[in-house]
Formats: sequence, C-alpha cells, structure tokens
Amino acid sequence: MEKIKVTIIGAGNVGTHLAKRFFEKKIEIIQIFSRELQKAEILAKEVEAKATNDLTKINDLADVYIVAVKDDAIEMVARQLPFKSKLVVHTSGAKSSKVFESHIKNYGVFYPLQTFSISKEANFEALPICIFAELASSQLILNQLAKRICPNVYVIDDEQRATLHVCAVMVNNFTNFMYVMAEDILNKEQLKLDILRPLIQETVNKIQKYPAQLMQTGPARREDKQTISQHLQFLEKYPDYHKVYELLSESIIQKYK
Ligand SMILES: NC(=O)c1ccc[n+]([C@@H]2O[C@H](COP(=O)([O-])OP(=O)(O)OC[C@H]3O[C@@H](n4cnc5c(N)ncnc54)[C@H](OP(=O)(O)O)[C@@H]3O)[C@@H](O)[C@H]2O)c1
Repeated sequence: MEKIKVTIIGAGNVGTHLAKRFFEKKIEIIQIFSRELQKAEILAKEVEAKATNDLTKINDLADVYIVAVKDDAIEMVARQLPFKSKLVVHTSGAKSSKVFESHIKNYGVFYPLQTFSISKEANFEALPICIFAELASSQLILNQLAKRICPNVYVIDDEQRATLHVCAVMVNNFTNFMYVMAEDILNKEQLKLDILRPLIQETVNKIQKYPAQLMQTGPARREDKQTISQHLQFLEKYPDYHKVYELLSESIIQKYK
C-alpha cells in the first residue's frame, strides 16, 4: 500500500503520542476521536486531522483505525463503529485481538510496548511495537505502518503479548510502585528520594548488561535474617508496605535456595 492513512480513536496518552509521531513521519491522519470534543480538536489541530466526539461519524477514508482507549472500552467502541470490514486495531498489551471478533472482520493489534504519559516525550526510536493481524494482508499493512514510526517491529500473537504484558507490569508498574513506597516513607521521615537516585540508576544500568538473576543483592539474597527482621519492625508503622516487603523477601529467599 503506497500511503497508509490512519484514524485515531482516543486522545489519551497512547493516542496522543501515536498521532504526533505519525504526523512527524508524514503519515496522514484522517480523524481524531475523543468523547470530549475540545480534547479531540486540540490534538486534531496539531496533527492536521478532523476532530469528532461521535463514533458514528468516524468515516471510511482511513486504511487503519487505531482504537487507543482504555481496555474496558475497546469492545464498546468497536461495536459502535459504522463499518465492519476496515482494518481496526487496538493498542492494549492485555486484551486479546478477539475482542473485535463479533463486530469487525478485519482486526489486529498495534501495541507500543512502552510507558506513555502525555506530558513526557516518547522515544519511538528505542521502543518496540508489537503487531498482529488476523489477515496476512493486514499484517503487511501494520508492519509497513509501524516501520514508518519505529525501527523495532515484532509480530507477536495474542498469547505472547499477554505474557509480555504480565512481565511489562512487573518491570515497569511494580518497579515504579517500589519508588512510590520509598518516596512516601522518605517524605514522612523527612528525607528525600534524591539520595537514592544513583542507586536507582545503577540498578537499571546493570540490567542492560547482565542477567537480572545474577545482579540480585540485598538482605534477602544473603539471607541476613536479623536485618530483614529489623526492616520489618521499622515497617510496622507502614502495614501495607510491610506486607510487600515480607512477600518479596520471602520470594527472593525461595528463588535462591
Ligand atoms: N499508557 C501506557 O503506558 C500504555 C502503553 C501501551 C499500551 N497502552 C494501552 O493503550 C490504550 C490507551 O491507554 P492510555 O494510557 O492512552 O489511556 P488514557 O490516557 O487513560 O486514555 C484513554 C482514552 O480512552 C478513552 N475512553 C475511556 N473510556 C472510554 C469510553 N467508555 N468510550 C470511549 N472512549 C473512552 C478516553 O477518552 P476521552 O478522551 O473521551 O476521555 C481516552 O482518550 C489502553 O488499551 C492501554 O492498555 C497504554
């Protein structure tokens, strides 16, 4: 296909970053949908597209329709689209492509495996995009589209993506929550997270070069039981964090037995 045109449904974190990247790479964006017209208009203006807040007004001029809405709303959006045979994809790591099955004939997934926030720039040169389509011809179109915005494109089926997503939650969401817990405790104890930033950075540096399993350190890895008890005693005033600390320490001890 010579020039792929896209329509983006959802003007949140992912919809916004994809729209901006497509625009930067001179891929024509036909429409931007958000339930909030003003939100759709702001993004549409930036990427020279038309805005709508009405799913029934999504036209058939695009080649690929990217549904970048919250996981639980994907099926409901698909049900309301005024066509059945256009190529429609979602951007979710967790949802099966089969979520479209009852409403759309030609469907797939366009999953950029990264953490996106509207306010933070995204580096499409470094992230992977996982694509999948039911039809081989659609897979070719998605591959061509993904390659225009990102050098790292993988064909990943539903089952593989579900596994990747579980692990993505572990390495990003859970890791970040560790920082949230630490920040909370440090703030309450009149200390600052800044002093831990070099440690956080080195943890990430090591994992880029070495197997994670070899890089594990700390009291649970050494089975320093007195230190673990001392930490658990300190955490008694933070009962939720106490539970997390205890569970993770136990899991580390078991892993290295
Ligand atoms: N953020 C990430 O790091 C990330 C990374 C990879 C994949 N994903 C996936 O990308 C998708 C979008 O995530 P996001 O982070 O961009 O979410 P988000 O910033 O919360 O944006 C969600 C979008 O969903 C729309 N929405 C919510 N409920 C809706 C409904 N009932 N009907 C129609 N639209 C509805 C919102 O529309 P309004 O504008 O109308 O409120 C908003 O545009 C999800 O499937 C997510 O799993 C996210």
